[in-house]
Amino acid sequence: MMQKDSANLVKEMIHEAIIDKLDADLSSSVSLVDLGCSVGPNTFLAVQNMIEALQTKTSASLEFEVFFNDHAANDFNKLFASLPQRKYHAAAVPGSFHGRLFSRGRITLAYSCFTLHYLSKFKRDLRAFLSARGEEIVKGGLMFLIIPGLAEGLTHSQSSYAVIFRLLESSVLELANEGVIGKGEVDGFNLAFYFPRKGEVREVIEEDGCFSVERAEMINPRSNIRARVIVGHLRAGMEGSFTEHFGESVMEKVFGRALDKADEVSDLLEASLRDSPQLFYVLKRK
Ligand SMILES: C[S@@+](CC[C@H](N)C(=O)[O-])C[C@H]1O[C@@H](n2cnc3c(N)ncnc32)[C@H](O)[C@@H]1O
Repeated sequence: MMQKDSANLVKEMIHEAIIDKLDADLSSSVSLVDLGCSVGPNTFLAVQNMIEALQTKTSASLEFEVFFNDHAANDFNKLFASLPQRKYHAAAVPGSFHGRLFSRGRITLAYSCFTLHYLSKFKRDLRAFLSARGEEIVKGGLMFLIIPGLAEGLTHSQSSYAVIFRLLESSVLELANEGVIGKGEVDGFNLAFYFPRKGEVREVIEEDGCFSVERAEMINPRSNIRARVIVGHLRAGMEGSFTEHFGESVMEKVFGRALDKADEVSDLLEASLRDSPQLFYVLKRK
């Protein structure tokens, strides 16, 4: 999965940040959260990585409490059925991360990967996210954010995301013309994604004022990834939103057609992917 690749890329940077930058009490128990964890398995790898770093940092015999957050509609049963053998206590925390999820100062480490682009109004939603985390994360605690972003100098319509969304749009429109999907359903469908530039994220973080930016990187995903593979990633990440609106029965058709079309635009898609970086941030609660 694309999400898994980015998680691997940042694995070392997260480990390093926990060793060098975390400045919170590590004497008894530590609480971690993955915000927008989905159903796994990426979340388990991210959690394991953070715990290993904590264990490297201190020789104290720590207890770990891990919270898995996502919307209430997330399949938490599926997530917990595949929870690996572990050295931590696990709990689900359903609800939108744009509001408060925890009591004040409860969280030492927060992690959120490929979730913050689900925004209706980018700045407003990111502000709400930061202000809730500002209350919940203990002073000296860290938050790691991985956000699919837009390279400087590109317009949204030049990004690989736009190329991909146009593929899906034309699949859906074709199916509507053939009467497989209702035309009204197409008009009522809105994907609220936004891919920010690095500067836009920093601006909101600085305005909010609760966190210092300890590290900010732009990571370019693999450029040799094939167009068909990209559509596969996309399906993994977006099928939920499509199913909710159009129903499960047409999903094979929607994504199957997008796959066929991917071959036609593969050069464009693969080239534009090189300009679609992932933004990685290490934030520290002041
Ligand atoms: C593309 S998936 C990424 C899953 C996982 N973090 C990973 O890296 O594989 C995005 C997840 O974010 C969740 N999400 C989006 N907006 C959210 C919100 N406001 N509150 C909680 N979860 C949210 C979605 O439900 C979805 O499970």
